[in-house]
Amino acid sequence: MEAEKFIEKGIRLSVKAEEILRKLNNSDVEKEIIDSGKKYIDEEEVKKLIEKKKEEQIVVKRPYSFKPLSKEYSSNIKVLDRDVTGNSRTTGSIDDFVEYFRNRYSKLSKMLKKFDPKYPETKVEDLKKSMNQQVKIIVMVTDIRETKNKNILLEGEDLTGICKIVISQGKEKLFELGRRIIKDDVIAIRGKVLEAFVIAEDIEWPDLPITREKKLSENDLAAAYLSDIHFGSNNFLEESLERFISWIKGENGAESLASKVKYILIAGDIVDGIGIYPNQEKELIVSDIYKQYEIFNDFVERLPEYIEVIAIPGNHDAVRRGEPSPALESDLISCDITSLGNPSTVVLEGIKHVLYHGTSMDSLISSLYYLSYKKPEVVMEEYLKRRHFSTLYGGNLIVPEKKDYLVLEEEPDVLHMGHIHKNGYGYYRGTVMINSGTFQARTEFQVRQGHVPTPGIVPVYEFKTGRLKTLNFLKGEQ
Ligand SMILES: [Fe+2]
Repeated sequence: MEAEKFIEKGIRLSVKAEEILRKLNNSDVEKEIIDSGKKYIDEEEVKKLIEKKKEEQIVVKRPYSFKPLSKEYSSNIKVLDRDVTGNSRTTGSIDDFVEYFRNRYSKLSKMLKKFDPKYPETKVEDLKKSMNQQVKIIVMVTDIRETKNKNILLEGEDLTGICKIVISQGKEKLFELGRRIIKDDVIAIRGKVLEAFVIAEDIEWPDLPITREKKLSENDLAAAYLSDIHFGSNNFLEESLERFISWIKGENGAESLASKVKYILIAGDIVDGIGIYPNQEKELIVSDIYKQYEIFNDFVERLPEYIEVIAIPGNHDAVRRGEPSPALESDLISCDITSLGNPSTVVLEGIKHVLYHGTSMDSLISSLYYLSYKKPEVVMEEYLKRRHFSTLYGGNLIVPEKKDYLVLEEEPDVLHMGHIHKNGYGYYRGTVMINSGTFQARTEFQVRQGHVPTPGIVPVYEFKTGRLKTLNFLKGEQ
């Protein structure tokens, strides 16, 4: 404070008043004194003016009254009956395995029948009748080898027999497709029968139709996508999740996007769990599984009551380890959410969401040379192409149910996954792909693996416009 500016205006300050103003050093209060028109200001007068200014500031900073648009709408959720919850019928016998693979083959082969319609499908047992002719076969790949001439030699099987398929390295484009085949893939192959082999000329996966368009909804609502929160972990980012809660409640002021959020989807790994891998308990801050879920229940209860939460389990959650996994039960989840199995399909405002945690991403990334943990959306595209969530039987723990719940029978409008703690977004043949990252900081395990996670980033998808936005809650800047 400069006393001179008061002298210039002919205002005299008492010693105490000058002392208070000097300490306060607030230009708004000083202006108030000058504007008051008074020629002598004592301690009492200064205190009065300070109070007046404070009250004015409170009026100016009165919190914005948050009137969420989504509160005006009732929720529109339809769960498609496709998950394993309450439907598990396996006994783990050999017959179950046979039935499981037959079911997988029959579902995927049905999708493949459309490929190259001018060639009718030939059953493997009839190949010898088609010598030197063009055929189309639909097989499950049981073996992949490289021949001495660097060609790819596949062994494939349908319900009638086993055959050998050659993909020549001389055909560059085809060979590249061949390098994308993994064991247990169900694919259609067109080619020529030559002695004991089918010489491949084209290859097709079940895939999504090329003609699909992005599905939008009438209501201007949105969903926020979470996964891998890991409640109970000592790396859980509590402050970041708190920022997300404040944001969704509109506590940060006039927030039009938060106002549209009607749904929160969680793609598994809600808690960190116990005994997930050796020494994992050393990374826990809450080592009681029920208490870990209590923190989750508290989190849900703090969310606005007009928001619907839909969640599936991941490999860290308290359900059976093998996939498909049933929904988390009410002894753990006491809050009001839609608890579904992994994978699951739910239609929100007419937009079909498929949720899968993504545990099999590890085996897929290690099997295909062009995939990496850095680009989850590229990995997600593989699931849509293969129309299956865990192709490699030996690479993942699959429970052989009589029906293969891991076949992606639906054509999703949104595919939501998690697991690798890395946000990623893409669009493939009418499907919006979202990998929703994590709320867990980088773990020792990830440091050893060289994985760099992207914690605290939440994607929000607007159903009416099809816009996807991401909000960064890691350090507070959005
Ligand atoms: Fe996971």
